[in-house]
Amino acid sequence: MTKPASRLAPSLLLLGVIALSAGCGAVGWDWDTKMTTVIPKSDFGRMTHDIFMLISWWTLGIFILVEAGLVYACWRFRDRPGAPIPKQVHGHTILEVSWTIAFAAILVIFAVPTVRVIFKTQEAPAATDLRVDVVGRQWWWEFRYPGQGVVTANEAHIPVGQTVAFHLHGPDVIHSFWVPQLGGKRDVVPGRVNRVTLTPEVPGEYIGQCAEYCGMSHANMRFRVIVHAKGDWEQWVAAQKAPPVDPKEELAQKGKEIFSQSACMGCHTIAGTSAGVLGPNLTHFGSRKTFGGASMTSTPENLAKWVENPGHMKPGVLMPNLGMREEQSKALAAYLLSLK
Ligand code: CUA
Repeated sequence: MTKPASRLAPSLLLLGVIALSAGCGAVGWDWDTKMTTVIPKSDFGRMTHDIFMLISWWTLGIFILVEAGLVYACWRFRDRPGAPIPKQVHGHTILEVSWTIAFAAILVIFAVPTVRVIFKTQEAPAATDLRVDVVGRQWWWEFRYPGQGVVTANEAHIPVGQTVAFHLHGPDVIHSFWVPQLGGKRDVVPGRVNRVTLTPEVPGEYIGQCAEYCGMSHANMRFRVIVHAKGDWEQWVAAQKAPPVDPKEELAQKGKEIFSQSACMGCHTIAGTSAGVLGPNLTHFGSRKTFGGASMTSTPENLAKWVENPGHMKPGVLMPNLGMREEQSKALAAYLLSLK
């Protein structure tokens, strides 16, 4: 006699799975802009997806075979009144050796393309490839373009159709670089430089996320990769290389004054104003849509709140609370946003 509780368990499990899948955003899911590996937008993404599909089809085939065998055995050897107990078998050498070999062979079928893609996506870059140095910080991303002399944070810009070599490095803790639609995950490790080499195929904005638990704000350590259409990327580089325009608005001018007289100077670079290197380079902060590990939208309200109490918005942030009052934080926000 089955207890009601054990009869209830499968239904509860099913309900749980449905609830969890709903949490994944099944409702209103915008497949094209979200973090998904099944709509790849680069050669790296496509190669990963191909391996995923290869494994999926093989495992689907294995599942069908195993389930068919199971159902057949259940039906064939079911309990019938008066029927004798079937012959008891303990082990079958040929069967066991052959399925061990068969599954080893299937693993080799998965391993060969996997290892090939692992090596291919960290190939030594050619002279023509764009190099972007990625520095995993606590907890935000720095992007440096040694060939262009550009430094930015949390939003990397690359041109479509060109092979890009991301050189990954972390000064203190381990992170992992991952842009689901473009490529990754690859560890960002102190003491060595890992590489992700990929060619983006479709212009657009792709969301990235640190994929290795690195500390308090690991979950807030996001970033974006903006893939520019042909010709647009050069314009972005030119704009980044230009000196920041002096603020015209009164509030922003006041912000610049506060910035220049406070501890902000020690950690942040704003070309022509300060030269700190601990925090993000803010020279063209106003050209970025997000801040704080790309986890906040750059609005005057968010920025003012951030300046007043960074730790409240990003736990464990290294930027201290400088005790800025309301009018000061508003002025600083106006100044930062003016740095287009
Ligand atoms: Cu950086 Cu998790």
